[in-house]
Amino acid sequence: MTSILHRSIRDTLPRAVAGDGPFLIDDQGRRYLDACGGAAVSCLGHSHPAVIAAIRAQADRLCYAHTSFFSSEPAEALADHLVARAPQGLSHVYFVSGGSEAIEAALKMGRQYYVEIGQPQRSLFVSRRQSYHGNTLGALAVGGNAWRRAQFAPLLIDTVQVSPCYEYRDRRADESPEAYGQRLVAELDETLRRVGPERVIAFVAETVGGATAGVVTPVPGYLRGVREVCDRHGILLILDEVMCGMGRTGTLYACEQDRVTPDIVVIAKGLGAGYEPIGATLLSRRIFDAFREGSGFFQHGHTYLGHVLACTAALEVQRTIERENLLENVRRLGPRLEARLRERFAAHPHVGDIRGRGFFWGVEFVADRASKRPFDPSLRLHARIKKAAMAQGLMTYPMGGTIDGKLGDHLLLAPPFIVGEEHIGMIVERLSAALDAAIGELPKEAFGIPA
Ligand SMILES: Cc1ncc(COP(=O)(O)O)c(C=O)c1O
Repeated sequence: MTSILHRSIRDTLPRAVAGDGPFLIDDQGRRYLDACGGAAVSCLGHSHPAVIAAIRAQADRLCYAHTSFFSSEPAEALADHLVARAPQGLSHVYFVSGGSEAIEAALKMGRQYYVEIGQPQRSLFVSRRQSYHGNTLGALAVGGNAWRRAQFAPLLIDTVQVSPCYEYRDRRADESPEAYGQRLVAELDETLRRVGPERVIAFVAETVGGATAGVVTPVPGYLRGVREVCDRHGILLILDEVMCGMGRTGTLYACEQDRVTPDIVVIAKGLGAGYEPIGATLLSRRIFDAFREGSGFFQHGHTYLGHVLACTAALEVQRTIERENLLENVRRLGPRLEARLRERFAAHPHVGDIRGRGFFWGVEFVADRASKRPFDPSLRLHARIKKAAMAQGLMTYPMGGTIDGKLGDHLLLAPPFIVGEEHIGMIVERLSAALDAAIGELPKEAFGIPA
């Protein structure tokens, strides 16, 4: 019996009672290797002594002070830490409690920026299909996750959506990755011209697409082309690095690898690594100056902005990542993870694509490799894989609707930065057993073979 409205009312979940590095332990003593960090959150694993000690020490002094009365040392130090390492031009930080809140703040910052500089006619956001920016109404409106949006559509502000950068399915056989990227850039340019760029606030995109389409990486030149189009039309570029940021892809900000600086970048998950809930919106000096020279404040706010314990935890997480040289571990072992995945699954009859960067990998499943035909969505292959992996003591993050919100199945891997070779071996072995079990229980018709 439970009094919680759980995510699913039909399932009974195991109860987590302890963490041990990259493992979670349930109340029956079962150990699960956390190969996905929950939802790409737990980048330091579950029991890092330095973070726990920092939270304890801060809790003894002060847990909370409302940000309309006080600033705090942990929040100031975390902001300095982040800005010092941020892409050039990002000069200030706004601290909230999670990814969706950070996206809401980014959207409002964008809107207020144009009001401050005398362009109040701008009210439109352009974003991408098959994206995810969070579940609050503004974030859902810019998001392109069709099934998440569907029943709430009447409540959402109008947005305009363009194609995702989804090379496996959308790059033509006669097209280079670069030419495909330029085709997408041209689509954005045409869309802006069609809707009227003077009406647009920003283009919003995940630097590396996360849970909705399963780690879709930008092709070479795509994001630089996007940046140029935004500049040409005088609109802002908001990059969502809630999932792919904070080192997940091997660099602190994923956009560093694409040599692009956004006007606003949004981070969360890996920022606090799950030790405390926290998200942040980083903004450029240009936006900050417009606020400073204009109204002098950002018209927004929540009760838990800049929460002292959350900032303490995040600061220690970020310092630990540097002290323990963990991004180096991601850069060293990321290719190892990729190689092991490809060795085991590249020729698998039901693996269509393996894609990613660093410690952020997606595996897309197909009923037929040659035609890329997905499995019948009613089979819910993704849910079967998740269950079979849990039975193997492995946490992965599978999802359906990869292609268009209905069709397609993938899973996402996002292991903690602290794992070693032995854990990578364990991830691949357990995943392989889980796939065999999940695919093995499908009816014959699932493969197009009459029963
Ligand atoms: C790219 C991206 N943006 C925003 C969010 C929303 O973050 P939260 O669930 O913390 O509200 C998520 C969550 O998965 C995400 O992956």
